[in-house]
Amino acid sequence: MTSLRYQRLYVNIDHVATVRQARRSAEPDPVAAAVLCEKAGADGITAHLREDRRHIQDDDIQRLATTVTTVLNLECAITDDMLRLAETLRPAQVTLVPERREEITTEGGLDVVGHREAVQAAVARLKAVGIRTSLFIDADEAAVRVSKDVGADAIELHTGPYSHAPRTGGPLAALKAAAALGASIGLAVHAGHGLSVHNVGPVAAIPEIEELNIGHAIVGRSIFIGMERAVQEIREAMDDARAADRF
Ligand code: PXP
Repeated sequence: MTSLRYQRLYVNIDHVATVRQARRSAEPDPVAAAVLCEKAGADGITAHLREDRRHIQDDDIQRLATTVTTVLNLECAITDDMLRLAETLRPAQVTLVPERREEITTEGGLDVVGHREAVQAAVARLKAVGIRTSLFIDADEAAVRVSKDVGADAIELHTGPYSHAPRTGGPLAALKAAAALGASIGLAVHAGHGLSVHNVGPVAAIPEIEELNIGHAIVGRSIFIGMERAVQEIREAMDDARAADRF
């Protein structure tokens, strides 16, 4: 039995802000949650500043930028405003995501094939100021190849189709193939969306995946067992999967 390389856990704290925004009050504070996540072993903090500001606010991002001691991964759409904010704040990593106002959460990967020029220009702007750039894409061969062509450092594979149907096999096979292809052409491979202690194992066990971004399940679980324990629970599930190499 061989152990796989350590896999980073970035915790997405958006839904702490969702609870706060339900009352437009000051608490719970996603920045305080980020501090607890780091204390519990998170390797990075992810926050999505959506155009409609439904959860994370501009002030949260400003405070995260000065408080996070691990890595701040800013998720944002490709708009001039967001790119300007990233250029000013200079988070260590930016993950570019598609965004539709009416969606409940990010529904599909970025259409890097259809919007190649816009993605390429955004990646160039971010890289010019030293930001590591990741593209949230579907587990699709053309999307992986174009991500490399446009100069991204990393891809984040959309695990939504797997999370919705973990037992059907197809989505997991697609993730494995896309991860292997991405790594073989020199991209760092991340993954995320809909992962929890119940389904993270098979994704965590994909050798090429270096980083998982997990939010909703951790924040939801933290209501019952506390944020630190919720982070540790996922961390343990990831470590078990990579130690056992059994999927
Ligand atoms: N990765 C990306 C690009 C996302 O948009 C999200 C959701 O905001 C996540 C990961 C985390 O997904 P979840 O909250 O379902 O764990």
